[in-house]
Amino acid sequence: MNKTLINSIKKSFIDKFKGDPIMVFSPGRINIIGEHTDYNDGFVFPAAVNKGIVAAIGKSNSNSSIVFAADKEEILEFTLNQIKPLAQGSWQNYVLGVVSEIQNRSKIISNFNIVFGGDIPGGAGMSSSAALENSVAFGLNELFNLGLSKQDMILISQKAEHNYVGVKCGIMDQYASMFGIKNNALLLDCRTVKSKPFEIDFKDSELILINTNVKHSLSDSAYNDRRSVCESIASMLNIKALRDATEYDLETIKDQVTPENYQKALYIIQENLRTIKASKSIENGDLKTLGELMYSSHNGLQNQYKVSCDELDFLVEQAKINGHVLGARMMGGGFGGCTINLVAKNESENFKAKAAKAYKAKFNNDCSIYDVKLSDGTHIIK
Ligand code: GLA
Repeated sequence: MNKTLINSIKKSFIDKFKGDPIMVFSPGRINIIGEHTDYNDGFVFPAAVNKGIVAAIGKSNSNSSIVFAADKEEILEFTLNQIKPLAQGSWQNYVLGVVSEIQNRSKIISNFNIVFGGDIPGGAGMSSSAALENSVAFGLNELFNLGLSKQDMILISQKAEHNYVGVKCGIMDQYASMFGIKNNALLLDCRTVKSKPFEIDFKDSELILINTNVKHSLSDSAYNDRRSVCESIASMLNIKALRDATEYDLETIKDQVTPENYQKALYIIQENLRTIKASKSIENGDLKTLGELMYSSHNGLQNQYKVSCDELDFLVEQAKINGHVLGARMMGGGFGGCTINLVAKNESENFKAKAAKAYKAKFNNDCSIYDVKLSDGTHIIK
């Protein structure tokens, strides 16, 4: 964890509000494979990382609550009985949404102050938003003894995103951020919302992230569109979610859907199978297969599900031509953010340098490269 960040958030809280705050760390996440499968009741394979949100939180005697976003130096002040989504909010709506969903559960809170900051950039596809939501839910639960379970809290965070941010997200991000286990990835069944941990030790290989540093604007509406396509095809098939469909089932309604939507549903069915296969290949220490599955996943996201972009495709191409990268794919919702790469350790510096140079030459823009460690989920910092 980032000690400098923790100290500066704590200091900023004390300077502004006095008192001794509860300190919460809530991690971002990576996802090895299983993209856009979560809202189809399918499997995903995420892990919490050692980067995320640090929040300092304490009670307030004033008539309003104040949240200070230290990175942006922006303040949100609100009265607890008058909460509604802000028209143009970004981080504000994540916070307000969580407070409102807690109130919807008839939990009583009084005024509070929060200072938060983080070390993952928004838009990186590493779920800084779920980390922020979870940090607020966890902090308020602790501060006011609300008696919420971790399971309750992730549902609160997810609802905040649905109702305040307007993105009909699945449960992967909030789950991974809350339930992460150090050195493990979690094979999560998004129907039962239960996961199986897999210890991750890739021996001579490692995972690295490359951030395109772009976030194309249609991402939220495209996300909701994809979700509704999946739901409508599931209902044509008379099943609860695409997780229950086979390629054969899909074939039976092929002439009733557009070719584009057929490909989208096909992608989901295939990605779900890839995710289960990936967990088996990790169990068998078969990184070659894991890497191939990651490349196929990207191919599906790019050409069938159509949520990639030129910058992500370019970075995955750089991985492919390298020869020492076993697998690579875009990660998260898409339209920007990071690629996740499975790279031979002794070649990784080389790859990073080459990819960064090529990216700059192509887009006249820098990419950012992150090494991450797999970490525990949302917790109090002692
Ligand atoms: C976003 C959503 C998740 C998930 C991914 C795609 O991160 O918040 O629920 O759907 O996109 O896998």
